[in-house]
Order: sequence, then C-alpha cells, then structure tokens
Amino acid sequence: MGAFSADWLSLRARFDTAARAQVLEDRLARFAATRLSGSGRALQVVDLGAGSGNNHRHLSPRLPVRQHWTLVDGDEDLLRTAPQTTDLSRRHADLAIDLEAAIPDAADVVTASALIDLVSREWLVRLVRRVEEIDAALLVVLTYDGRIRWSDEDAEDAWVRDLVNMHQRGEKGFGPALGPDAPRALQDLAGPGLATLSSDWKIGTADKDMRGALVDGWAAAAAEIAPDDGARISAWAERRRQIESGLVVGHADQLMLPVL
Ligand SMILES: C[S@@+](CC[C@H](N)C(=O)[O-])C[C@H]1O[C@@H](n2cnc3c(N)ncnc32)[C@H](O)[C@@H]1O
Repeated sequence: MGAFSADWLSLRARFDTAARAQVLEDRLARFAATRLSGSGRALQVVDLGAGSGNNHRHLSPRLPVRQHWTLVDGDEDLLRTAPQTTDLSRRHADLAIDLEAAIPDAADVVTASALIDLVSREWLVRLVRRVEEIDAALLVVLTYDGRIRWSDEDAEDAWVRDLVNMHQRGEKGFGPALGPDAPRALQDLAGPGLATLSSDWKIGTADKDMRGALVDGWAAAAAEIAPDDGARISAWAERRRQIESGLVVGHADQLMLPVL
C-alpha cells in the first residue's frame, strides 16, 4: 500500500473514463432503479480500493438514484483527497484482511476500479462469496489484462511487456497477484452470470504525460524482474520517451447482477 500516488490516479482518470464500458454502467443503472423502486432509501455502494475517489466521481452521476458511497482504502492520505460530501463515508482498512467486514450486509453494489489485478485467486473467491451472500451487484472495472500494443513497434516491446506481466503476478499485499489473469479468474469464479467487456486505454500520440508515466513505471517494474538487464531496459525506455507513439493498454470491465 502507499504505492499509488494521487498524481498518478489523477493522470489516469481521464483515460479510465473514456475506456469504461458504458453498456455495463447502463445495466447497473437499470438494476439500481429497479432495486430502489418505491423504497425511498439510498443505494448503498461500497468502493473497494477507492483511492482518491475516481470511481465515485465517474460512476455516481451515471446512476439515476440517490446514493450513499463508502470508500474503502488502505492509504489514508489518498482517502483524504476524496470528495467531502454528506453522501460519502471513508473507511480506512486493509482489504487483504478485512474484506468481509468492509462489505456490510446492506450493500446494494460492490465496486472496485483498478484493483483486482493486485489480488490473489483466494481473495477473489472471498469477494465473490461475500457479494453472493448479501445479494449485491458487483462492478469491477479497469482490470489490466496483459495487452500492450504500440502504434509503431520496437523490437524490445514484447520482451518488456512480458517482464511487466511477470511483475504484475508478484506479491501486492494480497498473496500472489493474478495480474493479467484477473479478468479470466473472475469470469471462471462467477460463471456465466458475469458479463465481461473490454475497457482499453487508448493513449494518443499527443498524450505525452501518460505515455511517459507508463514507460517509467514499466521500466522500473521490468528492472525489478531482470536486474541484470538494466541497461537494455533503460535503452528501451529512452527510445520510447523520444518517439511520439500511440498505444493501447488492455483492460476489462465486469458486471454481475443478482436476480431481483
Ligand atoms: C490502482 S489504485 C486504484 C484507485 C482507484 N480505485 C482508482 O481507480 O483511481 C489501487 C488502490 O488500491 C488500494 N489498495 C492496495 N492494497 C490495498 C489493501 N490491502 N487494502 C486496502 N486498499 C488497498 C491502494 O491504496 C490504491 O488506492
């Protein structure tokens, strides 16, 4: 924890919003309206690994009902930067340990953005079990799926991507991380009731800051996996910083709705 800076989360937010699968949001919106119909209460939403609140900022205006959000994160500094509104509570918790307690029985929607590639299969089993136990909807978005495609190829792109994907499968505080295998693992666990759509980042040639941040992060991750290849990785990163390429980074959005 503490590895995600507010600046990085703010930089990625615009790409997240453009990438997210609107079809799944529309389905969730219809579920929310039906679930609350005539009840007079607010939709209870729990956002796991909420960080600075990007998921709330994006999704809340797209749900056509009154809502109360609980933002859960292990990083108190990030949580402090989330919006301060009456329809939102913040909860500091280590989700590797306190997952079940962080999802109250009354939750209608459990959501997580850019989280489940960090977690283990065992943790996903716990998540699906808890969501099914309380009959909630599950919306998991922007899970990295291992694809990185540049608009112009460098001979070392695939090698660096494979090192990055190896790094993604390392320990991230939840046991061995699923990394790029996370969307498939969730699909296998949740079964055909879970819809999966792609939500790829599309980074244009002019998006220098985003491209630079990704190249820096990937070079650092690759060097952790292959420390003896530091010079080769740095040379790749230097070339990638200089060329104005576009790129696509593969992500998945997934939604499971309970039967109403
Ligand atoms: C990639 S960030 C995504 C943040 C936010 N959902 C977004 O989309 O901008 C992952 C978040 O998971 C949180 N996190 C990582 N491990 C955690 C843990 N064990 N318990 C609680 N939060 C954790 C981090 O602090 C970070 O805010």
